[in-house]
Amino acid sequence: MRIPDSVIEEVSRRTDIVELIGNYVTLKASGSRYMGLCPFHNERTPSFSVNPEVGAYYCFGCHKGGSAFNFVMEMEGLNFPEAVKYLADKAGVEFTTEVEDDSSRRRKALLELYSRVANSFAYFLDDSERGKSALETLSDRGITSDTIRRFGLGYAPDDPFWLRGFLEKKEYSAGFLSECGLFTKANEKRALFAGRIMFPIRSNRGEVVAFGGRITAGDGPKYINSPETEIFHKRMSLYGIDLALKPIRTSRRVVLCEGYMDVLALHQAGIENAVAALGTALTGEHGAFLQRYCNSALLVFDADEAGARATSRAAGILETHGVLCEVAPLDEGTDPADLLRHGGSQAVVDAISSPLSALEFLVRSSMNATSASSPEGKEFVLSEVFPYISLMRSEVRRGESLRLAADLVGADREAVLRDFGRYRRTAKTRSDGHVTGVPSGHSESAQD
Ligand code: CTP
Ligand code: MN
Repeated sequence: MRIPDSVIEEVSRRTDIVELIGNYVTLKASGSRYMGLCPFHNERTPSFSVNPEVGAYYCFGCHKGGSAFNFVMEMEGLNFPEAVKYLADKAGVEFTTEVEDDSSRRRKALLELYSRVANSFAYFLDDSERGKSALETLSDRGITSDTIRRFGLGYAPDDPFWLRGFLEKKEYSAGFLSECGLFTKANEKRALFAGRIMFPIRSNRGEVVAFGGRITAGDGPKYINSPETEIFHKRMSLYGIDLALKPIRTSRRVVLCEGYMDVLALHQAGIENAVAALGTALTGEHGAFLQRYCNSALLVFDADEAGARATSRAAGILETHGVLCEVAPLDEGTDPADLLRHGGSQAVVDAISSPLSALEFLVRSSMNATSASSPEGKEFVLSEVFPYISLMRSEVRRGESLRLAADLVGADREAVLRDFGRYRRTAKTRSDGHVTGVPSGHSESAQD
């Protein structure tokens, strides 16, 4: 019985190795790891360590080590497929091996297709007359050829029927092509992307799994993104993660921005831990993923109303995952890509060098949105930040945040504490019993 890679990946993504091993061993946090007495040999001082970041355990005494799968194989005496099944059941991942064998083959074929298409697009941008104006657009925006190469940018030819012809010559089946996500629903010979600058979206491991395409001329939406496929799940993808994961890990910090061009600008300015969610707000899945690699985040979203909304939502999500959030306040109407274009790398670096705490940012931006000097205005601003403060696990931080919020709006600290207490009690007795953490009006409405 062969288990598809996608299932193994999903199970390991959904398995919290600390929680799993914690059922057998008492673990204590030590830096970014956990230590305990080794369950595989007898010892008095802990030499057994669990690293949630890489999803692995290792004993410095007996040198046993491995993944969550290896752990249950050892502890429960299972073979590999049985261990996957065991953890899949725990994590609520369903799979049947027969069907999935096909799907694993399809996944592989899709990855191969997307990689091939990305290479062709890159060729058009780099070497051909057709991509010339797209290349000019990028260079006008201050993007260097090194950045183009590192991100594998490309150009999809103007002719919407070129791609179909190109792939038919490679002997892909019509059925496969009609469902590969590269053609329009209305006409399966017509490419989804034509006459666009192409941004390959890659997985953590660098495989091309989808594209974003920016229009260069004429009518149509500014950006188009690939549809969901077996290899592309928008809620989990982050643009730039293939390049950023290592820097995120080593700095234990992530920089989150809004768009493709912003990721390019930040990386080019040397901020290589920058990523962006894709045409959607940050999701809980993103939060759970990032939590494994970092403890702080810097949000660099557009300085407009949508950007402020995205910021408050992202800060709430990251807070629930224990990732501390700061915000770089940009000038109204600018984003990192504009900064690069007009002021070069230094402007990008400067813009993010003195961030505000997410709390201060949220208070300030909601004060801007209302007449904050009236009692009602103050009440409004505070009611906007209570849900966020409420998500903080540390009582000390909650207390400090309330004091800061009170001072910023110019309200009596004691009164704010009492209002917060009342807010918490009513929030708790709500039917669903949990706080969304997103200031009113912006809950589950991702813009996708
Ligand atoms: N986006 C999208 N679909 C759109 C518009 C935007 O998916 N129709 C996503 C893209 O990921 C884009 C991001 O939202 O990068 C930010 O959008 P926007 O600020 O409008 O674009 P910019 O990044 O500023 O694009 P540019 O600088 O190229 O104008
Ligand atoms: Mn922009």
